[in-house]
Amino acid sequence: MGQTQTNNQKMIWTIGGGKGGSGKSFITANIGICLSKLGVRVILIDADLGGANLHTFLGISPPAITLSDFIKKRVPFLRDVLIPTAIPNLQLLTGAQDLLNAMDAKSVQKRRLVRSIQTLESDTILVDLGAGNSLNVLDFFLMSDGGILVVTPEPTSVENTYRFLKSAFYRRLRQTVSSPSVKALIDGAMDRKNERGIQTPHELIKEVRRVDEGEADRLIEEAEAFRPNLILNQVRSKKDIEIGFSIRSACLKYFGLRLHYLGYVVYDQEVNNSIRRRRPLVLENSRSRAAQCVIEIASKLANSR
Ligand SMILES: Nc1ncnc2c1ncn2[C@@H]1O[C@H](COP(=O)(O)OP(=O)(O)OP(=O)(O)O)[C@@H](O)[C@H]1O
Ligand SMILES: [Mg+2]
Repeated sequence: MGQTQTNNQKMIWTIGGGKGGSGKSFITANIGICLSKLGVRVILIDADLGGANLHTFLGISPPAITLSDFIKKRVPFLRDVLIPTAIPNLQLLTGAQDLLNAMDAKSVQKRRLVRSIQTLESDTILVDLGAGNSLNVLDFFLMSDGGILVVTPEPTSVENTYRFLKSAFYRRLRQTVSSPSVKALIDGAMDRKNERGIQTPHELIKEVRRVDEGEADRLIEEAEAFRPNLILNQVRSKKDIEIGFSIRSACLKYFGLRLHYLGYVVYDQEVNNSIRRRRPLVLENSRSRAAQCVIEIASKLANSR
């Protein structure tokens, strides 16, 4: 991950993190629309495989053709399951209920899907990962150029975010090293009650150094390159806004991770109203406070391309 770009300047952003209902799909759909309005070719991928509903945020009925058709090889290319939307520059690729189980079994399928996503013709791809931190979700989060966590100011959401980040970070570290004993150390560290008492990535790297200097250096490089992004959603007060900065500081202090705070989106009844009307907020009511916040974040993403 990190802010690296693929060959043709394509950016893949994955939106995930922790808790259900934090606003991942609302933010993915509306950021996608903002970018498409800026002339960026956008593909939205609904990888919330258990509860795909990104289409609803765009005012589209559940599509008949889904990722499942690609996974099960009913169509040869991922581009065959792309759905045009009424919005210029914006295409949708939607998930399927049965996909998660199918992919858990076969990581070959997962790799095929990731490779195919990377070759899709587009300027920006936004992947809505859904909630949770299953291995599939973590792997998709890590495949992207930029992972974005959507967090709400509640302690439970913040807690889930740390858990998600720790799992993603350790999984990434695990993928980096080749030594089985170092892999075992990382696996051990995932358990908070591990016998070596490793509680943070800092402590993990210290332990790894005792076993293998080279691997410890590689882990430090990976930690440097791992730069997830954070959006705080459903903010109701100035104090809430500060939570984004607190999470950033805590990540640096305890994980040695540089988290990028992309910004916040206020809690706004207009979000609800737009969803009920099945009209995207940034189109329906672009002057609303929440839409203004989303527009600002989208322009930051556009500038980071
Ligand atoms: N900024 C906001 N202001 C007010 N309500 C919001 C805001 N963001 C999201 N919501 C509300 O939260 C609900 C959940 O949003 P959304 O479906 O985008 O979350 P999600 O993270 O994708 O959930 P899931 O994990 O279940 O996929 C929406 O129906 C909407 O009513
Ligand atoms: Mg969702």
